[in-house]
Amino acid sequence: GRGVVVAIDGPSGSGKSTVSRRLAAALALAYLDTGAMYRAATWWCRRREIDLDDAAGVTAAVRRMPLEMVTDPAEPRVVCDGVDITAAIREADITAVVSKVATNLDVRAELARLQRELIAAESDPTVAGTRSGGRGIVAEGRDITTVVAPDADVRILLIADEAARLARRAKERHGTADEATLAATHDEVVRRDADDSTVSTFLTAADGVVTVDSSSLGIEETVETVLGVVTAAQ
Ligand code: C5P
Repeated sequence: GRGVVVAIDGPSGSGKSTVSRRLAAALALAYLDTGAMYRAATWWCRRREIDLDDAAGVTAAVRRMPLEMVTDPAEPRVVCDGVDITAAIREADITAVVSKVATNLDVRAELARLQRELIAAESDPTVAGTRSGGRGIVAEGRDITTVVAPDADVRILLIADEAARLARRAKERHGTADEATLAATHDEVVRRDADDSTVSTFLTAADGVVTVDSSSLGIEETVETVLGVVTAAQ
């Protein structure tokens, strides 16, 4: 039959990327990081020297973006215009401005269209050449449970309280979570979530979406909990 579609949303620092990758690897599914697509769109506009405040210019550029998402959970990669930008799109200069691109509704429509195409192909065993062979996909982001794949087989909102999310990001970026590194991480987590939540609902669960709170869970425990939700749904 058809493959399984698992949709996972959550704010930054909720652990959704790590958990989604682990889940996809454990279930032999493809893995789609939709945040990476908004980051790639930002990188592409920069490369084309498009003013990010020029909404029409940004939209036109994104519609012509030659983007390839490599959906292997063991080694997800993003290739744009023949350049491997997997690492470049994680840089602070992209993170600082990605919300500008992501709050452009025409950009959202275009990327959602690409995301639905990928999700449909990976969950269709009759489509040749997919990563999962049609077994299915784990797609994560801010609007997957609500806009991109509201009909997914499993829909999860992964949350964590602000202190936990800030501490995780500070440790990830700076190796420690002290007063200075927490302050430096504030823009990346709190300001970005505030900006992103003007266009997506990822701070509260929509109807039928299962909430998993990872505030007091380690990665391993969170993966186990999410695996339990997926198993229970099948
Ligand atoms: O998850 P990540 O931090 O890589 O996402 C980068 C940015 O992409 C977010 O700050 C948000 O602006 C945008 N995004 C989005 N919708 C998604 C996933 C990400 O708007 N589904």
